[in-house]
Amino acid sequence: MNRIFFFFLAFLFASALSAQAPATFKVDVTNPGADISPYMWGVFFEDINMGADGGLYSELVKNRSFEFYKPLMGWKEVKKEAASGSILIENRQETNAANPRYLHVSVKAQKGEFGLENEGFRGMGFKENLEYEFSVWSKSATGNLVLHIEILDTKGEVIGSTTMAPIDSKMWNKQTVTFPCHATEPKGRLRIWFVGNGSADLDMISLFPTDTWKKRSGGLRADLVQLLADMKPGFMRFPGGCIVEGHELSTRYQWKKTIGPVEERQVSINRWNAEFAHRPTPDYYQSFGLGFFEYFQLCEDIGAEPLPILNCGMACQFNTSEVAPLDQLDTYVQDALDLIEFANGDTTTPGGQLRAQMGHPAPFNMKLLGIGNEQWGEQYVERFALFQKTLKSKYPDIRLVTSAGPAPEGEMFQYLSHKMDSLGADIIDEHYYQSPSWFLQNAGRYDKYDRKGPRIFAGEYAAQSDRVISTENRNNWRCALAEAAFMTGLERNADLVRMASYAPLMAHVDGWQWKPDMIWMDNLHSFGTPNYYVQKMYATNRGDRVLPVLYNNAPATGQDSLYASAAFEQAGNEAIIKIVNVSAKAQAAEILLEGVIKMNPSVKVTLMQSNDLSIENSLDEPMHIAPVSQTISVKNGKISTSLLPYSFAVYRVKLK
Ligand code: AHR
Repeated sequence: MNRIFFFFLAFLFASALSAQAPATFKVDVTNPGADISPYMWGVFFEDINMGADGGLYSELVKNRSFEFYKPLMGWKEVKKEAASGSILIENRQETNAANPRYLHVSVKAQKGEFGLENEGFRGMGFKENLEYEFSVWSKSATGNLVLHIEILDTKGEVIGSTTMAPIDSKMWNKQTVTFPCHATEPKGRLRIWFVGNGSADLDMISLFPTDTWKKRSGGLRADLVQLLADMKPGFMRFPGGCIVEGHELSTRYQWKKTIGPVEERQVSINRWNAEFAHRPTPDYYQSFGLGFFEYFQLCEDIGAEPLPILNCGMACQFNTSEVAPLDQLDTYVQDALDLIEFANGDTTTPGGQLRAQMGHPAPFNMKLLGIGNEQWGEQYVERFALFQKTLKSKYPDIRLVTSAGPAPEGEMFQYLSHKMDSLGADIIDEHYYQSPSWFLQNAGRYDKYDRKGPRIFAGEYAAQSDRVISTENRNNWRCALAEAAFMTGLERNADLVRMASYAPLMAHVDGWQWKPDMIWMDNLHSFGTPNYYVQKMYATNRGDRVLPVLYNNAPATGQDSLYASAAFEQAGNEAIIKIVNVSAKAQAAEILLEGVIKMNPSVKVTLMQSNDLSIENSLDEPMHIAPVSQTISVKNGKISTSLLPYSFAVYRVKLK
């Protein structure tokens, strides 16, 4: 644009703003309202979109224990010259029911070499100069085979290699070796050469980077955990989602099968494997390497309150709707009792002992527990009531989270809300996957809710730029801005709404089933969407008490396209004001802090803004739209600001 024309436009814009009467927000600092839950803004993790295996859990080998439906999925034989070797999958169901299959390999290598390759989860991400940890469980049958390990780039060039000690033990044992990688490669693979003459049994063939979160061996991807930690989430809901329910009861999530040594955790098909015909992922399984112990540990690491969700004796009602008969619900209720003991019991209890054996003698101090995911109907109410009776009599302080069904309105929703109210439920989990305009229109949703009923958990929400389950959905600024506007209503009603989390959390660019998602990744990199930054702005600017804020004598719930909420933060004696402008025009505004005699003249502003509502972040431009910080000055006791088009701003004012 020609410079003179630009200045002319800027002049017109500035004069138009100054001619307008400013929008005035009155924040009553003398009248702090309800307390805001310390775990108001959290995260919801589910193993969907390769969120765990292939994502947060940093194992690089797919189908490491040969337990997929097709036991050699992800693996292929390789030969050099006329090598002769063979493999066979064997089964020891009687002695190891949780991990029955293993690989038997026989090699006669007078000439050439025989081996196996693993393709990883859409390839394996390798980093230059990083050490990798290879491990395998093995026992020798005949001879002393030696494993020669190589990692390869996409062209098949070797970028790291090592040789292990010969397999000579007649008993299963684990060998581990660490070796460096010499190049960065986003889609590499692993190759194992079997050297010598003989035969051996192999299982749990595994490869991990060593730069995991807190450098834990076999741990989590540090970049992804860092994104979570940076958000300072108040809680973490886990492990789902529909994954809790299973397609049928036999494939439901069973927490006990996810703890203890990883080689004893029973692999299960992931319920998202074949859920969507348009996004099939036949190689999607759950190794449970990221199981319930790792989950509690992660919560502790990032300061999030654990919120486990357990199966309530019902499989997904969108799938089989299989239910456990009421007189057989004991196993399910016992699972819940045992989980509480595992998390909180002292080390004299069997659960506490198990936790201590896994390396955490101190209790995890779990306070919240969800019963069922998106269940509905009479069958759910009956089952929840049984859980509630037993759990409340033994652990009255554990707050139970209960379902409001999959939709935020309608008959099903009304029925459950009414029933849960009469059962005296603690917290109801409402889900909304709706259009951006629904979010804008519903910013006042909770203003008139009954205060005597259960508290609310906005457990899954995300604005859908197209429609639910559409592959066209985008994580764009339009959706994130609508969520920011809606969240002012959650904050204003923090007496009622105690917790909220965006959903789903993570997605692999080559392995997803569901869009939109808060954090995206490939094998080496990850980035936060605009939706992530909105969540982060709320979670890092939570405050402890709601402050009433009026716009023309009413809460700002969309009048003149403006939305606002405010909070007071005790620690820094600060007022925190959030304002969202969803219109295409800038609006001059004044924020008046009523009842404040003195405040710091400098106000810290965190701003997200773009005139382009379709803007997104990506692996190439991870911060295309992200918060920026600035300061503005208080003049004559007023905070004068310009609410930029399509903007979300957080103002922090230090009171004196
Ligand atoms: O977040 C994806 C899915 O949406 C969850 O598993 C389920 O609870 C909801 O239907």
